[in-house]
Amino acid sequence: MSKIIYSEQIEYLKKLRIESNSLILKMEEFAAKNNIPILDWNSAGLLEQLILIHKPKMVLEIGTAIAYSSIRIARKLKKGAFVDTIEKSKNNIKIAKENIKKAKLTNSINIIEGNALDIMPYLDKKYDFIFLDADKEDYEKLFFYSLMILKKNGVMFVDNLLWHGYAASTDVPSNYKKSTEYIREFNKLFTTSPSLSTVILPVGDGVGIGIKL
Ligand SMILES: C[S@@+](CC[C@H](N)C(=O)[O-])C[C@H]1O[C@@H](n2cnc3c(N)ncnc32)[C@H](O)[C@@H]1O
Repeated sequence: MSKIIYSEQIEYLKKLRIESNSLILKMEEFAAKNNIPILDWNSAGLLEQLILIHKPKMVLEIGTAIAYSSIRIARKLKKGAFVDTIEKSKNNIKIAKENIKKAKLTNSINIIEGNALDIMPYLDKKYDFIFLDADKEDYEKLFFYSLMILKKNGVMFVDNLLWHGYAASTDVPSNYKKSTEYIREFNKLFTTSPSLSTVILPVGDGVGIGIKL
């Protein structure tokens, strides 16, 4: 049950959803069955809309998992545009590669294998759109690395900023205390950054959208 949006609203929106791509639906089922955290379907809808509006040529994703969001981004890109996506889990990389192949998107999605904390300082490209979706303790460092390689007017999209509802709660279970602190600190950093115009929306698990000034 969501602690962010009323279940009634979620169920209503699900009934209105038109998603005919069987791979996308299968990936959602697979992630749910195997406890792999992927972007909420409605947050992914928002992400797709932003891609359609902004028309980025170069997208960077930090946290590929099984390539659910990479595929949702790539299928809305213009011809010639691409996604670089960083992932450190070997098992997830294997599944992601299979899914990208099935989606026939091998030409527009490039997996960079390894820890983003080691990779990002050496990336020599600039990106129009960056999606940050990695381990919460890494968010602060990855945010600063992202700012350095995000073009002016570029978009930064960040997931989990309401963190299962715990970011705003006084009743946080002990196994979520540390990660909740990381998210709360990150939210202060994100919303007060002089380099970005930001908003945090209660969609899915809470998404942040920042535009580089
Ligand atoms: C929430 S999942 C990503 C979900 C994916 N963006 C989607 O919506 O389909 C986070 C993924 O990031 C990876 N990850 C976490 N921290 C990372 C880091 N510092 N460098 C590279 N990968 C990282 C994890 O292994 C995991 O697969």
